[in-house]
Amino acid sequence: MSVILGIESSCDETSAAVVRDGRVVLGHVVASQHELHAEYGGVVPEIASRAHLERLLPVLRQAVGEAGVGFEDLDAVAVGNRPGLIGSLLVGVSAAQALAWSLGVPLIGIDHVQAHLYAGHLVDGEEPAAEVMAERTLGLVVSGGHTSLYDVGGPLDAEVIGRTIDDAIGEAYDKAAVILGLGFPGGPAVERCAAGGDADRYALPVSMLGRESLDFSFSGLKTALLYLVRGRPKTVAGKPVFERSSQDLGEQERADLAASFQRAAVHAVTKKIERALDRSAAGYGRLVAGGGVTANRYLRGELASVAERRDLELMIPKMIYCVDNAAMIAGLAHHRFVAGDVDGLDLAAMSTPSGAGKRKKA
Ligand code: KG4
Ligand code: ZN
Repeated sequence: MSVILGIESSCDETSAAVVRDGRVVLGHVVASQHELHAEYGGVVPEIASRAHLERLLPVLRQAVGEAGVGFEDLDAVAVGNRPGLIGSLLVGVSAAQALAWSLGVPLIGIDHVQAHLYAGHLVDGEEPAAEVMAERTLGLVVSGGHTSLYDVGGPLDAEVIGRTIDDAIGEAYDKAAVILGLGFPGGPAVERCAAGGDADRYALPVSMLGRESLDFSFSGLKTALLYLVRGRPKTVAGKPVFERSSQDLGEQERADLAASFQRAAVHAVTKKIERALDRSAAGYGRLVAGGGVTANRYLRGELASVAERRDLELMIPKMIYCVDNAAMIAGLAHHRFVAGDVDGLDLAAMSTPSGAGKRKKA
């Protein structure tokens, strides 16, 4: 039995949550900063850390209040301490250190990417929860910073078997939105625009990186989309000059391009999942997915078809636990808490991933 407070501040969402026994979300608040970064077309690190500072205390109070518990009821304080923007991480880590010290409870630092893999386990209230990860589980994280496949042995044991060699899929969505003249954040904007489009109209490249690879690459897709929208650039005085701009696109043309992009991006993921399944001698029984891009309905549908075709149990987070959130941090921390594996008050914020970033030896 545990009641754990989680804090998440790795990028542009300030979030706090209270989770019981690693599964049941009692209180959960996310304050998004999208409006602050929209005019820059991407996250500005200095603005993000300042906004975390302003928002974290009200968000914490609200999450604990919603949970109907007091600070004295908390068994531990967990915080996403890596990877992410260092200034943003520091705000969450400092708050967690202060709280853990003042309450006299353990502090637990959680790898944000591992937490994305765990988010599918979270439930609200007393609804039934699936069993915590089975032995043979294939993991997928698709976010703004990661596109990786994992061999998952348990909540705290995930080894990378494939990863992107350039952009992450969420980053590709964000760049596609800029190329198509859509808003920020790009993923939801591209998805909305693609809803009215014909995905068959443009054949965009799906990069397989050779016969054996489980890695991903999205930079060719991004460039192909750019050239379709703006024409091939000519070099004038050492600088690329394009024939057209995104403003020249007709509404239907833009929707068709968004739909064709989305299909190529998602197929790059599902094809590698199928390859990982084909290559696995023992066979996977479960697919767990997480990260911001799992909020995409087209991807969710395609993952559900793969799971059905290959007879896999699919665990995918509820929509609210796909993008960055503190519930997944508090949930995963339970498994370290019950194992007595906690951190000291000198826990550091780190921009690099931990175990979830290690590649499995061939
Ligand atoms: O997991 P996340 O919130 O942050 C990181 O850890 O990176 O993921 C954010 C990414 C962004 O690139 C965003 O554009 C993408 O997830 N995203 C989506 C959708 N919602 C968020 N991409 C495609 N379709 C969506 N509906
Ligand atoms: Zn994330």
